[in-house]
Amino acid sequence: MGKKVTVVGAGFYGSTTAQRLAEYDVFDTVVLTDIIEGKPEGLALDLNQSRPIEGFETKVIGQTTGRNGEGYEVIEGSDVVVITAGLPRKPGMSRMDLLGVNAKIVRQVAENVAKYAPNAVVIVVSNPLDEMTALAQIATGFPKNRVLGQAGMLDTARFSHFVAEALAVPVASVKTLTLGSHGDTMVPVPSRCTVHGKPLSELLPADKIEELVVRTRNGGAEVVALLKTGSAYFAPSAAAARMARAVAEDSGAVMPVCAWVDGQYGISGVYLGVEAKLGATGVTEVVATDLTDAELASLKEAAEAVRAKQADVASM
Ligand code: LAC
Repeated sequence: MGKKVTVVGAGFYGSTTAQRLAEYDVFDTVVLTDIIEGKPEGLALDLNQSRPIEGFETKVIGQTTGRNGEGYEVIEGSDVVVITAGLPRKPGMSRMDLLGVNAKIVRQVAENVAKYAPNAVVIVVSNPLDEMTALAQIATGFPKNRVLGQAGMLDTARFSHFVAEALAVPVASVKTLTLGSHGDTMVPVPSRCTVHGKPLSELLPADKIEELVVRTRNGGAEVVALLKTGSAYFAPSAAAARMARAVAEDSGAVMPVCAWVDGQYGISGVYLGVEAKLGATGVTEVVATDLTDAELASLKEAAEAVRAKQADVASM
């Protein structure tokens, strides 16, 4: 049967995610919803009119939803639901400043997703990411493997871009990895970074690598400071769309994502940025990699920081 994916939230992040998913031309249907009357319908019409030019058959359905779940019938049968609903940062804000306001929004959305698409895999992108992912799992009551968050794909892409730029090499020759939180305790993993298969540490001095790591950690804030009226969406939507596609195609691709960790790295019971294999049921396996002692210590620190915050969202 043809695959159906829903994107909740038709802001820049949601609408570009819907566009990328539609342009893959592997889904039957892409549903885009929002609470702003007419916006998802208008964007869907616009996207559908691009089909003859871009050459895709996927149908895009836009649907305004109400506070009490009105309109959510449209998501029935979705294989994947990407939750982008919530506010983005303004300059000077940390992702954590969004916790209270976005928790209300994400909880409401997650409850409706559970009601209307009870078999879907849920990919959360709302910020603060690690906490909103934990909240979506609680609010849906879905098995933990069926709820995951997007962050590592994005942070890794940013790190790879900065490395490629610094060394003036094709971005395709660069492999990087970031683990931990999508925030202050993000853990870039230079020991797993290579260029044309060569360790990054042989190509750049340690202080330069650290500079790129810091820029990666602040990658989202740097874009927010420039835009002034919103946060990044081209790279974030590329990341979310790839994850949704991997799930829909049951591809088994290993990607850095925010996943429930239960024992790997000696860490248990927390949503955290790790590498995971994605398939039709969401996260089919958390894949632990060799880390240096320092990297492992940073990851454990990240886990404890995130755990403390995730405990708060249960009551939000
Ligand atoms: C960023 C936001 C989307 O990192 O979290 O750009």
